[in-house]
Amino acid sequence: MFDTMTLTKVGGAFCGSLLILLLGNWAAEGLYHTGTSGHGGEGEEITQAYAIDTGASEAPGEAVEEGPDFATVFAAADAGAGERVFGKCKACHKLDGTNGTGPHLDGVVGRAVASVDGYSYSDAMVAHGGDWTPEALNEFLTSPKAAAPGTKMSFAGLPKPEDRADVIAYLQSVGG
Ligand code: HEC
Repeated sequence: MFDTMTLTKVGGAFCGSLLILLLGNWAAEGLYHTGTSGHGGEGEEITQAYAIDTGASEAPGEAVEEGPDFATVFAAADAGAGERVFGKCKACHKLDGTNGTGPHLDGVVGRAVASVDGYSYSDAMVAHGGDWTPEALNEFLTSPKAAAPGTKMSFAGLPKPEDRADVIAYLQSVGG
């Protein structure tokens, strides 16, 4: 059955591929080791981890806190887009002069804080004081809990400056 020549050929081919595989492995391992655990490699790893770290801690913070200032974003605000953003507020705020879970928001831009008759504000909102200027609204809507600690407005906030500017422009456009 087994012709010696065939067996030798098959065996030879098998050993040949095995050798190539081993050589390949060895070469790959060599490359791998120089990259990660050689002396140069360790240095590289540390540098990389450091670069990733600073990138993660600084870039997003800058984008949120130190992007274009509010006046610039507000100047380009789009009331039409703001109407869509207001969809997030509708569950609690109406624009027809009646109060819901939250006070009505007609004419809120420029209105004194916590001034809607018949609405029972939290002490935190009353303590906030002042008028709802676009800037004050921008700060409050970034994070209601941070701007008025203890407020009963349970809304996380609008993280995007454009969304805040747009919704404020919308409220200003419907205000009256
Ligand atoms: C889950 C309900 C809820 C949502 C959603 C919500 N609010 Fe409110 N909001 C409230 C409540 C409740 C108050 C009253 C807060 C207090 O007295 O502490 C309030 C207060 C306010 C005030 C102060 C009004 C005043 O008369 O002084 C403004 C401005 C406001 N919300 C804007 C918004 C905007 C804009 C959105 C959408 C981006 C929004 N809110 C989403 C419940 C909500």
